[in-house]
Amino acid sequence: MTHLLSVRDLQVTFDVRPPGAWPWTPSLKLHAVGGLSFDLEEGKTLGMVGESGSGKSTVARAVVGTIPASGGQILFEGKDLAAMDTRERRHHRKDVQMVFQDPLAALNPRMTVGEIIAEPLITHFPDTPKAEVRARVGELMERVGLLPNLLNRYPHEFSGGQCQRIGIARALILKPKLLICDEPVSALDVSVQAQVVNLLRELQVEFGLSMIFIAHDLSVVKHISDDILVMYLGRVMEIGPGDEITHVPRHPYTQALIASVPIPDPVAERARPRPVLEGELPSPLHPPSGCVFRPRCPKAQPVCAGDRPEMEVVGARQVACPFHEERQVLRAAE
Ligand SMILES: Nc1ncnc2c1ncn2[C@@H]1O[C@H](COP(=O)(O)OP(=O)(O)O)[C@@H](O)[C@H]1O
Ligand code: SF4
Ligand SMILES: [Mg+2]
Repeated sequence: MTHLLSVRDLQVTFDVRPPGAWPWTPSLKLHAVGGLSFDLEEGKTLGMVGESGSGKSTVARAVVGTIPASGGQILFEGKDLAAMDTRERRHHRKDVQMVFQDPLAALNPRMTVGEIIAEPLITHFPDTPKAEVRARVGELMERVGLLPNLLNRYPHEFSGGQCQRIGIARALILKPKLLICDEPVSALDVSVQAQVVNLLRELQVEFGLSMIFIAHDLSVVKHISDDILVMYLGRVMEIGPGDEITHVPRHPYTQALIASVPIPDPVAERARPRPVLEGELPSPLHPPSGCVFRPRCPKAQPVCAGDRPEMEVVGARQVACPFHEERQVLRAAE
């Protein structure tokens, strides 16, 4: 089976200086992503979840190619991103587009909506006739639910949801093969979130897109993902079919993430088994030894401080915990 994207043992480190350090103090290595592997097939969606700081955006930026991998491989259509020549990189930049979390901040305030959407097309294909650019922008605006006669307005005249639609139209104008949505609904009102998720789902089918959909909330990704990757401190905790992971989570971190999603029914909420996630994500500058989830894990045992747990294959999924077990999720949590 050919994968559109294969990520193999991806490592991304940043050189950072502790606050207040002297200029001659050696910098520290921050391991934002420490050995992450996954595959994405054509036309499928991978949901990526984990708390803020777990390395999701870093993976996205490495796959787009805006930051270099420090180790491992990113294969797009079988080609290693690190070995691509200038022409291949240009193609890659066209084939992989992003939608960002803060829609207004992602749009240039001095450009009209029409200019914003058209910009990638004009950059990559400067000879495109003006009439064709205008027609493509108009079609896309209509497709994402914006009136084409708003073409000459500026981003600040639009709501958050509308700005995100502009960002989606801009990302689609080059007909990418892969769309990476980095927390595309986290900054939007709850009432608008479902509309944007549904729009992305429709567009994915229509354009035959593959998608990586990033969120810190499992309840957001489960409706749109074929597979789900649960990430913690730069590592995969559990990866596999979205249905299985949300209905019978195995890794203690996945179980805790699901247990932290509030159930709208107060009776079901009170009856629900704990644990709820306690404490905070440790700094990637000083990751815990052994299993990185150990300091917060309700099942942690002395042996968990030893070697990092291997990925264990359980049916169609992989789990990074030797003590994993199924936990049935209350249907009321859906
Ligand atoms: N450019 C950078 N320089 C230094 N550290 C960074 C940089 N970008 C991200 N980080 C650090 O990498 C870790 C992962 O960040 P990020 O990928 O943004 O996580 P997420 O998207 O899951 O919230 C965090 O500890 C963050 O502070
Ligand atoms: S390896 Fe140990 S600490 Fe890590 S998730 Fe499993 S039980 Fe918890
Ligand atoms: Mg992020």
